Amino acid sequence: MVGTVKPPRGKLPLPIIITGICALAFITLLYTERISLLSSNTIFKLKPCARRHAAKSVKSSSDDKTTEDNLFNYAADDRFEFDPDECSVVHGKWAFNSSVKPLYSDRTCPYIDRQFACVKNGRLDSEYLHWEWQPDDCTLPRFNPKIALQKLRGKRLMFVGDSLQRNQWESFVCLVESIIPKDQKSMRLGRSHSVFKAKGYNATIEFYWAPFLVESNSDIPIKVDPKERILRVDSVSKHAEHWIGVDILVFNTYVWWMSGLRIKSLWGLFANGEEGFEELDAAVAYRIGLKTWANWVDSTIDPNRTRVFFTTMSPTHQRSADWNNKDGIKCYNETKPVMKKWHWGTGSDKQIMTVVANIVDKMKVPVTVINITQLSEYRVDAHSSVYTELQGELLTDEQKADPLHYADCIHWCLPGVPDTWNQILLAYL
Ligand SMILES: *[C@@H]1O[C@H](CO)[C@@H](O)[C@H](O)[C@H]1NC(C)=O
Ligand SMILES: *[C@@H]1O[C@H](CO)[C@@H](O)[C@H](O)[C@H]1NC(C)=O
Ligand SMILES: *[C@@H]1O[C@H](CO)[C@@H](O)[C@H](O)[C@H]1NC(C)=O
Ligand SMILES: *[C@@H]1O[C@H](CO)[C@@H](O)[C@H](O)[C@H]1NC(C)=O
Ligand SMILES: *[C@@H]1O[C@H](CO)[C@@H](O)[C@H](O)[C@H]1NC(C)=O
Repeated sequence: MVGTVKPPRGKLPLPIIITGICALAFITLLYTERISLLSSNTIFKLKPCARRHAAKSVKSSSDDKTTEDNLFNYAADDRFEFDPDECSVVHGKWAFNSSVKPLYSDRTCPYIDRQFACVKNGRLDSEYLHWEWQPDDCTLPRFNPKIALQKLRGKRLMFVGDSLQRNQWESFVCLVESIIPKDQKSMRLGRSHSVFKAKGYNATIEFYWAPFLVESNSDIPIKVDPKERILRVDSVSKHAEHWIGVDILVFNTYVWWMSGLRIKSLWGLFANGEEGFEELDAAVAYRIGLKTWANWVDSTIDPNRTRVFFTTMSPTHQRSADWNNKDGIKCYNETKPVMKKWHWGTGSDKQIMTVVANIVDKMKVPVTVINITQLSEYRVDAHSSVYTELQGELLTDEQKADPLHYADCIHWCLPGVPDTWNQILLAYL
């Protein structure tokens, strides 16, 4: 499969279903090893406009700001233009706007994996394509492909992580690729490392597969049975050597840790090799693993040269009772976002979130958190669901009729929610 679009996913036997929904989630995951994200700050700093919060919180320090504040208050909508230091993307709502059109479709963009190509795979409803994320206090600029490419000029952007990162990477590539002439772009797909090149801009948008960030015996090829996976929680260098020299790094890791099993973890020098693992609770293993990653970043990355981002966990929607749809089957047939403010389901682990927040907080190298969890939590309507593939084949009609076993409520349709993640990433760049 080397050199084709898909990393090692070909052989994923289904029989692991015994482990229940978690294992199912995992299997689905396997089909989706993808990464994504990007960022770089230096060239085009966003220029903050009216900053309501700034005016409020630092009033004493500047009369100018107060004036600015007043100037902009005449409008009914007094949200200010997004400024990363002053506006949180976590607080907000999804607003329906039928005149909002995605910048691409799964027919126009040739780089979308069939796993995410919902419309091509038969999804008929289209409301899910017309929602915009509106932070409470500011407006998030729409994704502008031209600005994105200008920011990436002469740079390498690399998304590192799991299949959700791949989801985001493909979204980013599709968001920009349509404005690049055919002979000015290329795509090279590899098992662990894929590179999209925008030649005129001397820019690359890359994906590197490392589902746990740290090394494991299940990176390539993937071990389908989570029980066989063993992680080297103190070791990241085999992957990290591929991250050196990249200008904008965007990391994630989450769902692979959530198999529901304790994580077989190795560290230090075990005399008895792989047999020497200890089983740790997921949050404990995750903390050690993420710390290993953080130490690498702190000891290797020059923050004057490289921007580092971390995408928070992408929620899974395996349990419709979470959003009070008692008759639902996972995310199957959902066509509207959850509207209940602060909705939070069982597919987003708060403990893991706390680990991320604590570790990132203490790092020497500044890491920008792209906090997508809350906004994505609402979007039960936007997963691949049964409009996906299994072992390289579209779901059959029988499989589609059995969403309990076959609906993918982990990954997202493209175009779709990952476009909003990239909208945020671009706003931070
Ligand atoms: C909906 O989107 C259109 C097109 O981008 C825009 O002009 C309009 O202001 C939006 N409407 C609202 C209510 O945000
Ligand atoms: C292209 O970008 C790379 C870094 O991604 C840089 O090393 C190289 O000098 C650039 N080449 C030109 C011609 O700008
Ligand atoms: C980054 O740049 C600043 C200002 O130019 C300098 O003071 C600092 O030492 C640099 N940091 C590193 C790690 O090189
Ligand atoms: C899913 O939606 C379709 C079309 O609206 C409907 O025919 C079908 O009965 C629904 N299935 C379930 C299990 O609710
Ligand atoms: C992301 O936002 C949530 C609220 O939705 C917050 O609890 C969490 O701490 C944030 N995560 C990080 C890593 O900052």
